Amino acid sequence: MTEYNKDTERQRSEFVESLTDYSRKQQAQQWAGSFNDYLRDIVAGNPGRAARSSHQYIWDMMCWRGIEAPKQSDACNRYKLFEDDLFGIDQALERVANYFKAASEGSEVGRRLLLLLGPPSGGKSSLVTLLKRGLEAYSRVDDGALYAIQESPIQESPLLLIPHGKRAEFKDSYGVEISGELSPYTRALVDDKYGGDFARVPVHRIFIDEAGRKAVGTYAPHDPTTADIADLVGSVDLSKVAEYGDEGDPRAWSWSGAVYAGNRGLLEMIEILKVKREFLYLLLTLTQEQVVKVSRFPLIYIDETIVAHTNMAEFRRFLQEKENEALLDRMVIVQVPYTLCYTDEARIYHKLTSATPSFRQVHLDPHALAVAAVFAILTRLKASERADLDLSKKLRIHAHEEVEGISDTEAEHIMREQPDEGMDGVSPRFVVNALASAISQSESKSLTAMEVMLALKDAIESDARMDAKMKKQWIDFLVTTRKEFYNRWVKEDVHKALFVSFLDEAQELLDKYLDEVEAVLESRKVDDPITGEERDADERFLRNVETKIGISDSGKTSFRQEIVRKALGAYKRGVKFTLAEHARLREAIEQYLFQERRDVLRLVTSSARADAETMEKISAVEQRLVNDYGYDAHSAHEALNYVTTLLAQE
Ligand SMILES: Nc1ncnc2c1ncn2[C@@H]1O[C@H](COP(=O)(O)OP(=O)(O)OP(=O)(O)O)[C@@H](O)[C@H]1O
Ligand SMILES: [Mg+2]
Repeated sequence: MTEYNKDTERQRSEFVESLTDYSRKQQAQQWAGSFNDYLRDIVAGNPGRAARSSHQYIWDMMCWRGIEAPKQSDACNRYKLFEDDLFGIDQALERVANYFKAASEGSEVGRRLLLLLGPPSGGKSSLVTLLKRGLEAYSRVDDGALYAIQESPIQESPLLLIPHGKRAEFKDSYGVEISGELSPYTRALVDDKYGGDFARVPVHRIFIDEAGRKAVGTYAPHDPTTADIADLVGSVDLSKVAEYGDEGDPRAWSWSGAVYAGNRGLLEMIEILKVKREFLYLLLTLTQEQVVKVSRFPLIYIDETIVAHTNMAEFRRFLQEKENEALLDRMVIVQVPYTLCYTDEARIYHKLTSATPSFRQVHLDPHALAVAAVFAILTRLKASERADLDLSKKLRIHAHEEVEGISDTEAEHIMREQPDEGMDGVSPRFVVNALASAISQSESKSLTAMEVMLALKDAIESDARMDAKMKKQWIDFLVTTRKEFYNRWVKEDVHKALFVSFLDEAQELLDKYLDEVEAVLESRKVDDPITGEERDADERFLRNVETKIGISDSGKTSFRQEIVRKALGAYKRGVKFTLAEHARLREAIEQYLFQERRDVLRLVTSSARADAETMEKISAVEQRLVNDYGYDAHSAHEALNYVTTLLAQE
């Protein structure tokens, strides 16, 4: 047998084993018994768990998945449930979590419908999907075990079997309260089939399952004119009327509406403001009173959490009708904006593109997604109240980058200055579509940031929904993206690649800078390491570095003192003072080094006459771009050419 065959054989037998194990576990999870068994074997062990409301259940699920407290006191909690899929909207997630937390503690908010409001493709559906998947998973673990009356069409809690007259006594012995009523269907079942002996009624463990319509319901309005409330609350099942002889028999009712599917768990209402007002009233009564009314039965008790979503356009239309105000009052509205942090936005593109096979075969240069993200955020930001703060600086503040002249507290304030920011602008979908078309046009299996910007330009120009003014503005944003972000990034990459070991050389230069500065400040001489002689401090070198970041003659001493203070601080903490500790000095030193090596780049432009030695130098730079900075051969070549033309313009 060859190695390969042995490996596959082993893999397959391991798979069979793990499958058997899985199926064993599935069976171990099953539980069925009479109501009496349920009380004795399940409820007695943990009555609180058995009596959880849907809000409590969802909150418990979120806790089970994990919540991490923030590192800084003003940041948001991190919810594991959302962490791997939703980026840069921490505040919205926190508000959603707070809704469940408050509702699970019995607060009034549990009696209001949760409405997620946000721009198109801003993650609302994904958020609800994560809740649903979380519930499905939770119902499969011990802590999340959920039980229901086996024959109930709406997976009712078995505890509802306990008659009202016995509930006070139940509370005394189990310590928990039961609220709610049996549905007319189950009441009839208990009476007719079990002769009223509820102790015998079969109970089983259920597993939440959207596809199986178990504790997760979903409703999306199709055509509002034909939408029927029966889709939500069911209707008479004519085929059964003959059997039971009466339209009023609960067994002749079809219990298939989305409201029933969501009982014990969650009902998702997609584009809720599109539904008829009659639907809205029903849903609001349902959240407030936990009952639905259908024509021929007494009120039906339902315990479910309604999470609805809608987009801004729909919401504005809805607000225009005066009578809707009262309805809005009965909802908890959480805004789910687009993220304003470009690195998070880039993660969204990465997530969406790496899921597609055609994308996986294509190399993206290290800034391809970031430039698209910068452009997207620029379209979402609103001008700051501060005149000295342009959109590019604001964008960097939102990405937690250090911006000259802006303290941390100011940055905090600027980030919160316009609460409506992020509710419009370009959507991730628009960008991903542009990326997809760029990829289908690229023959080289390699996409550069420049090509991405061109694809975005194309997408803007050919968008029929945009007016000319907006198109111009968005194209200007692309220009800003290129000039103020891409140029800086790509130059930095190429510059670094000019050195065999950029970091070492930069650190050496930093050490030299520190030595000279100390000598100047202490007015002493420097030992020249080569000649061994003493000489004056090299003021020319110091100024050469400092002017790179615009330190004036009058400002140089305080700048130098600050550097020495920082270096001493690092020394006291027992760490080496590196460039990472001081962004501005790092910039100065990088600039200084780049200036030294520019000549290599100038050679690129004259490469028509390139000799072997020049070619070798150039290809070494390209190779370092590939090895150390995330480029491939194609994009490295492009980057090098691009930076050379930039240099020629300087
Ligand atoms: N902040 C985000 N983090 C991660 N992914 C996101 C984010 N926002 C949007 N997405 C992704 O973009 C895609 C579209 O999002 P989704 O369908 O959830 O948006 P939506 O708000 O429901 O939009 P619509 O109003 O058009 O229904 C999804 O694949 C989603 O995962
Ligand atoms: Mg959606």
